[in-house]
Amino acid sequence: MKYLKNTWYVAAWAHEVSGDQLLSRTLLNVAVVIFRRSDGSPAVVADSCPHRFAPLHLGRIVGDNIECGYHGLQFDGDGNCVHNPHGAGVIPKGCSIAAFPAVEKHGVLWIWPGDKERADPQLIPDFSYLVEPGRKTVFGKRHMKAHFELITDNLMDASHTQFVHKDLLGSDAFARSRHEVIQEAEAVHSNYVFPDSEIPEAYKAYFDDPTLRVDYSVNFRWLAPALVRNSVSLIPLGKTAAEGILRTGTHLMTPETELTSHYFFCHTRNFKLDDEAVDERIRWWQKTGLAEQDGPMIEAVQKNMGIADLDSLNPVLFSIDSAAVRVRRLHAKMIADEEKDSTARVIPIAAKADHP
Ligand code: FES
Ligand SMILES: [Fe+2]
Repeated sequence: MKYLKNTWYVAAWAHEVSGDQLLSRTLLNVAVVIFRRSDGSPAVVADSCPHRFAPLHLGRIVGDNIECGYHGLQFDGDGNCVHNPHGAGVIPKGCSIAAFPAVEKHGVLWIWPGDKERADPQLIPDFSYLVEPGRKTVFGKRHMKAHFELITDNLMDASHTQFVHKDLLGSDAFARSRHEVIQEAEAVHSNYVFPDSEIPEAYKAYFDDPTLRVDYSVNFRWLAPALVRNSVSLIPLGKTAAEGILRTGTHLMTPETELTSHYFFCHTRNFKLDDEAVDERIRWWQKTGLAEQDGPMIEAVQKNMGIADLDSLNPVLFSIDSAAVRVRRLHAKMIADEEKDSTARVIPIAAKADHP
């Protein structure tokens, strides 16, 4: 399986693993178990005991370690066997399991599959807005039977919204929409403007007057390996940005296997923070728009493509594909650079400054 190694991937939302819970999940083709040490720090180790290969998620946490449920060997969060309850307690050489460096930041548990000594948490892009005071985030996820790059393609090309999500996001300004693609260091932006638009159905409930005309803009920013931020603003005509609404979607994809992925998504808003009805409305969008509209289309595309990669099928490309193609090229170049020179490192740009 080919993927960028010296970069941070999402293993789970932070709230998915709490207390003495053991979460089993396959990430980057490796079955792992995710747990927290006694100080709360996350650990991600292979979910297979080197003794008789029992899945460690059937065990339990003892202090900072995970205990195998079969014969009680204990492993620390770095994968070292630290306790053998049998005989004299000798721990044979090689009695260890693989472990990923893991960090919790901004409500996300991250793992680094590359060189351990380079696993610098400073390289995690700034997603602090997910947990910042003054904003509210609603989290979700979906398992996808598709290569993770097909999910990125779908996000970087918002033209599909007029078809896949016509009932929810369709705009009467679609024909006069403008699209620009900007590459800035190692970020790719795909920005759309729908001037003088109706309020798309999915957003009507957020306005006191849903018949208002708005300037509607939808911006996507990609960072390696598959971290996409989507800022949507709707500003009533003649009003200032502060009088409009801003909703930020965050879409983080991690390969599970060659052709399946974990799709983590969440939505952050700056309005009606304590309104449970708005939370519910966002959950409804995640279920309807992402899980039931995007999900089946992307999976059907993967099914038709089989195991072939996109380029080998010579797809007919249009200008609507320009951002997705740019991302694919940049991502492929990063992987090629890393293969040529294992010291190559991806340095994501700081996201903070340009967050709306
Ligand atoms: S299989 Fe884990 S201790 Fe035996
Ligand atoms: Fe979509």
